[in-house]
This record gives sequence, C-alpha cells and structure tokens, in this order.
Amino acid sequence: MADYQEIIASYRGTPGGIIEAYHAVQREYNYIPAEAVKEAAGVFGLSEAQAYGVATFYSYLSVEPRGRYIIRMCESAPCHIAGAEEVIQAFEHALGIKVGETTADGKFTLELTECVGQCQGTPVITINSQPYAGVSAEQVPAILAQCK
Ligand code: FES
Repeated sequence: MADYQEIIASYRGTPGGIIEAYHAVQREYNYIPAEAVKEAAGVFGLSEAQAYGVATFYSYLSVEPRGRYIIRMCESAPCHIAGAEEVIQAFEHALGIKVGETTADGKFTLELTECVGQCQGTPVITINSQPYAGVSAEQVPAILAQCK
C-alpha cells in the first residue's frame, strides 16, 4: 500500500491538487484517514478545518473507514420501482448492518447511489464500482459469497 504522505506530496502544486490527492488516497485506502487530511492541509497550505471541509464536501469522498467491498444500491426511480428496497433489505439482513455502515471485520460497506447508467438491467448494484444488473433479494447470499 502506498504511503498517504507520498501520494499527497505527488499532487503538490497541481491545480485542484487536494481533490486529486484525496481521490488517490481513497483509491488506496478506500477512505481518507484523518492523518491524511492533516497532511493535505500542510501540503496545500490550508487549515485543517478547510482540508476537512473539502474531504467531506463531495459525496464520493469518505472520511469514514470503509470496507474492502463497497456495495452500492442504485436508488433512482427505475431501480426503486424494480425492487431496490427488497434487495437492500436482503443485504442489510445478510450483513447485519444498515446502509451507510461497514461490517465489523472491515469487509463490506453498504451505500446507496444515484443512477449508474445501467437502467436497462434494473435493479442495479455496484461492487467496487463494477455494476451487477437484475439483482434480486434471492441472489444476495451468492453475490456475497463471491466476495472472498
Ligand atoms: S436507475 Fe438504477 S441504474 Fe439507472
């Protein structure tokens, strides 16, 4: 795993560098650790509060630890009508967590997302950004079993 200090330093002096740096840190760690926010504040000449503000402004950035597998359920209207609610309940039940939470073993995070552009196959989930179409509640155990 690349060091967050090195990652952030590599964006020093780049326009929009702090956002790019946060993206890169999140790609590596799946979230932005508090120490990385402090580091970014120093590198980009911001107060820690400002650096934290940037990290929490964008919904695709997270300052909370997240699982190795980030499962997102599309909640836009076409997926909603196609039964997204049942699927999300099946994931909550199988994982023992609610939307927005991460399992205690750090393996799974459950989140909601807007339309991911796969509306021909509703309802749609993504696992680490990879879309899965036509998901039913019955398929949830098998889908989880594939995540080693
Ligand atoms: S509405 Fe769910 S993928 Fe488009």
